[in-house]
Amino acid sequence: MSIRVSKRLEKRYKKHRELHNKLKEHAEDILNSEKFQSTREHIQHGSIAVHRHSIDVAKQSLLIAKALHLKVNEKEMVRGALLHDYFLYDWHDAERENFQKWHGFHHPGIALRNANEDYDLTDREKDIIEKHMWPLTLRHVPKYKESWVVTMADKYCSALETLKLRKGAAKEYIEGKRKNRSNIDEASGVEAPEVREPQEAGAGEDE
Ligand SMILES: [Fe+2]
Ligand SMILES: [Fe+2]
Repeated sequence: MSIRVSKRLEKRYKKHRELHNKLKEHAEDILNSEKFQSTREHIQHGSIAVHRHSIDVAKQSLLIAKALHLKVNEKEMVRGALLHDYFLYDWHDAERENFQKWHGFHHPGIALRNANEDYDLTDREKDIIEKHMWPLTLRHVPKYKESWVVTMADKYCSALETLKLRKGAAKEYIEGKRKNRSNIDEASGVEAPEVREPQEAGAGEDE
């Protein structure tokens, strides 16, 4: 591995650790809670679980606020972001009780109700959760800058998840396709040995 690549990986790892530490600093109780952990079982978009999505949205919110030089209440923004999809069911499961066809419209209210039961939410945190689907929920316009940031981060992460472009996913997808093609020798039909690239330090580590 060249020094340039190694420095780049080190920088990325450091950035990842910093974001991870901020999430822990502001919301360790949420991250460690059984209910939040249960969101690993529920798919959000593509193959991404709600758990991963919520953590990504919280991290992306921190990055957006930093990039825009916004003075935000980091703690409330992170907590609101982690709980923005706290609806606690698999929204794809049409067999479940109280299935609602219009999940996009209903889930912010459900997430807010659940989060209110489990945490003492501030007005800002409530606003983030309740209004994160704007402009779909037309009349629920975000009131605080933290709510706007989370709304943006949510759309950004959702778009990448839907397009399978989350960092690393596109590469895995392309490499998987290439591997499927190259692993089979068309003449003999024999599978070639797998060649793996070194994993990036910290990749895929959220919690
Ligand atoms: Fe949502
Ligand atoms: Fe979301």
